[in-house]
Amino acid sequence: METLNIKNNSHNRFFNLIYRLSFFFINFVVMIPKDTIEKIFDAADIIDVIGQFVSLKKSGSSYKGLSPFVNEKSPSFMVSPAKGIFKDFSSGKGGNVVTFLMEHEHFSYVEALKWLAQKYNIEIEEKERTADEIAAQGEKESLFLVNEFAKDFFHTELLQTQEGKAVGLSYFKERGFNEDTVKKFQLGYSPNRSDAFTKSALEKGYKIEYLVKTGLTKTGEKGNFDFFRGRVIFPIQNITGRVLGFGGRTLITDKKIAKYFNSPESEVYNKSKILYGLFQSKNEIIKQDECFLVEGYTDVISMHQAGICNVVASSGTSLTEGQIRLIKRYTNNITILYDGDAAGIKASFRGIDLILEQGMNVKVVLFPDGEDPDSYARKVSITELETYLKEKRQDFIKFKAGILLKDTENDPIQRAQTIKDIVKSIAVIPDQIVRSVFIRETSHLFEISEQALHNEVNKLLKSQHSKDHSTKSESQENQNEHQNQEQEVGLSIQKRSDDKGKHPLEIQERDLVRLMIQYGAQEIPVTVKNENNEDEEVAFYLSQYIIEELLSDELQVQNEAYKRIFDEFLDGLEQGLVISEKQFTQHENTDLSRIVIDIATPKDMVSENWEKKHKILPALESLRVKEAAQQSVAMYKLRVLENMIIDNQESLRNSLSDGELDKTLNKIKDLTETRNVFATKLGIIITR
Ligand code: CTP
Ligand code: MN
Repeated sequence: METLNIKNNSHNRFFNLIYRLSFFFINFVVMIPKDTIEKIFDAADIIDVIGQFVSLKKSGSSYKGLSPFVNEKSPSFMVSPAKGIFKDFSSGKGGNVVTFLMEHEHFSYVEALKWLAQKYNIEIEEKERTADEIAAQGEKESLFLVNEFAKDFFHTELLQTQEGKAVGLSYFKERGFNEDTVKKFQLGYSPNRSDAFTKSALEKGYKIEYLVKTGLTKTGEKGNFDFFRGRVIFPIQNITGRVLGFGGRTLITDKKIAKYFNSPESEVYNKSKILYGLFQSKNEIIKQDECFLVEGYTDVISMHQAGICNVVASSGTSLTEGQIRLIKRYTNNITILYDGDAAGIKASFRGIDLILEQGMNVKVVLFPDGEDPDSYARKVSITELETYLKEKRQDFIKFKAGILLKDTENDPIQRAQTIKDIVKSIAVIPDQIVRSVFIRETSHLFEISEQALHNEVNKLLKSQHSKDHSTKSESQENQNEHQNQEQEVGLSIQKRSDDKGKHPLEIQERDLVRLMIQYGAQEIPVTVKNENNEDEEVAFYLSQYIIEELLSDELQVQNEAYKRIFDEFLDGLEQGLVISEKQFTQHENTDLSRIVIDIATPKDMVSENWEKKHKILPALESLRVKEAAQQSVAMYKLRVLENMIIDNQESLRNSLSDGELDKTLNKIKDLTETRNVFATKLGIIITR
């Protein structure tokens, strides 16, 4: 029975063939069976899917539209049906049909697959997992599964056991949390026995390794014990509801005991990119177009129960850029709620600047002395709370002025310092018009001329600008340049960077990886020595050639993402297979697939103007892939050699004995000679 909408052009069939052939060693780590995922990818028509969200127009072999991720007037969003990928040149985002849904709809990987399966009538039988299968899954997924199990365990303990009800639930009730709230946030209780949780998890087949890595279990001399025992549990979820970690609050009032234990950092728990409550709040944040930012778990929960559901917590740490970006997905407006007597308010100024830097709007509400959002939300009615939030909200200028000028009303020096402080914040705002508005306000507030403030802002901007240009790692700029001009990477000469002047090898690594992805399965003639030490010409896959070149010199790819790609090629070649571009662009590791798509975005997805503007030569590379690979390898080795020379020159300075000195000098001489051989090959002028 043919119910699937499988496209039948030859291009797709070709890709599908390679894709299927080498599929078995891709280790899918989700609950949906591999062949079902394959079916979904086959059935999904990327133009059809993205066309639901973006109006697309055909343009050559691809489709074009306005970016769905940023506001723009001329289209820079491209979709290639042949490759099954999209690229947004405005935001830099790119991916396949699944990652598009993840970006645009904020789905998880599995959610995106399920959405597509439903659209294309593909049945998903989720498998009942055995302990063996659990063991075979990737580490990250294993950590998620352990956390998911723990969340359910603690929640059930809280609601259904004698101890849980008597100790945990009654504590929450005392704090005013009702049952709906307890369920909404999946609150829990960890029994006050040494290893109640650990034992239960081990019985279910979860490996001790992952119990330890998630921090749920500690191993000691007396055996395993539960990290959170005797504490009430706040699960911390990501935007799709997956459990990243936990906060566990003690029920004992003893200053010597830490009030909260938190999960340790792990592959899934990265404090700087987590906001507590975002999962429960995101829809309301979008609706209200505003996000309240509080400090603690209980602040989020109490506000929700009071009926204000657009609240997240930074969990007691200072706000990070990663956290702000999470919010920015949903709104541009952040309102920070502070305890009236919070000690660290001045330290929080940095967080305000970070928000402003992102071009977002920030307001601040101070609570009355001795109150925090949790206590205040429980004390007053919802209307009073809403009125308070509305009336007490200040912009960052009034807030800063209020804090900095407190008790120093008439001190002119303090006043000048405060103005400078505020001007610094204004200077980080990216939009000039917004800056002007705040300058006007400051001018009124402090009775100082707008011109003086403008001058001060411009001074800061100028010094920031020149700083950016001299220090903001030339390598970064270079790299961006090179992302756009891939064809030229092998030949261009990069500026030096890093404190000692060493080359960032990433640029060369990227080029090698790009060639492997784009032409990895093409065969090229390579001359090797046979057993009689005679030259012999054999056919190598291009990817194999590059790998051999690096391995024979014991060179290691340093960039982590490129190394993973490199390693997957290596694994594949050991089984006689070359990984296809499609396997990467549809890789279950979505970070990896994004990187690959970014690296290998074909020129035909870019408008002709763009090519002209950037003076890109016609893509002859595909006709001379052997030369391209040789050049790229040589360029990489040249840079490695130059870095080695720099290292040796460095140790020259620290050489103690004459013998050592001579040895190092000789080494530099040898390295330089080899370097020059490569440079001549590449046609690079030798003077450095
Ligand atoms: N926190 C922490 N470790 C501590 C104390 C605090 O990780 N020892 C974090 C928690 O995420 C906590 C937040 O900082 O939610 C704010 O701290 P605090 O206001 O002391 O805690 P509340 O969540 O308000 O808890 P409670 O109302 O029960 O005191
Ligand atoms: Mn509190």
